Amino acid sequence: MPRLFVTGGCGFIGSNFIRQLLNSDPNVHITNFDALTYAGNLANLADVANNPRYSFVKGDITNRADVMTALEENADGLIHFAAESHVDRSILDSGPFVRTNVIGTQVLLDAARAKKVKRYVQVSTDEVYGSLGATGLFTESTPLSPNSPYSASKAAADMLVMSYVHTFGMDAVITRCSNNYGPYHFPEKLIPLFITNLMNDRQVPVYGDGMQIRDWIYVTDHARGVEAAWRNGKHGEVYNFGGRCEMLNIRLTELLLELLGKPKSLIKYVQDRPGHDRRYAIDCSKAERELGWQPLVKFEVGLKDTIAWYQANQAWVNQVRSGEYLKYYETQYGTR
Ligand code: NAD
Ligand code: TYD
Repeated sequence: MPRLFVTGGCGFIGSNFIRQLLNSDPNVHITNFDALTYAGNLANLADVANNPRYSFVKGDITNRADVMTALEENADGLIHFAAESHVDRSILDSGPFVRTNVIGTQVLLDAARAKKVKRYVQVSTDEVYGSLGATGLFTESTPLSPNSPYSASKAAADMLVMSYVHTFGMDAVITRCSNNYGPYHFPEKLIPLFITNLMNDRQVPVYGDGMQIRDWIYVTDHARGVEAAWRNGKHGEVYNFGGRCEMLNIRLTELLLELLGKPKSLIKYVQDRPGHDRRYAIDCSKAERELGWQPLVKFEVGLKDTIAWYQANQAWVNQVRSGEYLKYYETQYGTR
């Protein structure tokens, strides 16, 4: 009967992780602790809301008292997804990133120690490694060299986690994954923004020359990786996950136009993101070797499924785009 405390489970990856694990392990019990920021949507888990092995607690990870109340003694795992996650927002205002990603992580680490959580999993990102040139891959021993306030806050959090491993002997592992895509992805990130714009014949803003490279992974593959790190990872280790799927942003944009049957005139080149990282690409051979994990979803298949999901879930898209989903909590649980 593993009992997990998951933070940020109402976001994109956390909600996919919770759904997948409740379905694949009939014994697991999950408490989802989420502040319901603009990126947190209860509708993302509406289908499991009444599952007796699932419960939701609204709370902020920077609030020590709330975390201590919600976190049970001797939980089998604390899986930490909650974060401010969008690079462009971190450029506009880094404050919430330092608060949630750094201070929130510190609060969770202290709470996990105090409550004797059996294993702590820090869900981090490949962006902590910085940017690659034309060749080479990020490995777990690539030095941390973050370039955006977002990635700097995630790197700081990773360092705190490693300090708790070293100083207190805490059982923690860190996962670092490349760019995810799939259902329930908030339409501010490239793939869901472009799909939802193109569905409405709106232009898509390509930053700079569009020659940046990202390594795409389907969200359920990442979720399986996080589960594998929790179950089989080694104390104090870092595991990279990636899709072995590097693609130029402009090539990806053209592919989306092609799959949605839209004209190239909908591409709009706009001013580049300040400090824009040029290339990310992950060496995930350690996770393959040591965790028996592999990315399973081929990009062409995953991308088609993702487009089909957005087309079939127009009500979700409209709710998110209009901000209506932010009121959903009140109808379910009373005043927010
Ligand atoms: P997201 O922005 O979709 O969701 C974040 C969730 O965290 C939301 O539900 C939000 O309400 C919650 N949250 C934010 N601040 C909180 C706080 N102070 N207290 C409690 N909950 C709070 O993010 P995502 O894309 O699902 O990413 C999840 C994690 O995975 C993040 O840690 C991110 O850094 C990491 N990651 C993301 C990607 C990616 O491609 N999206 C890739 C690698 C790693
Ligand atoms: P994003 O989805 O924000 O993820 P990240 O910055 O964490 O990699 O962006 C993916 C890539 O797409 C990145 O190189 C920035 C670029 N991009 C655009 O060109 N236009 C956009 O509107 C967005 C959101 C991103």
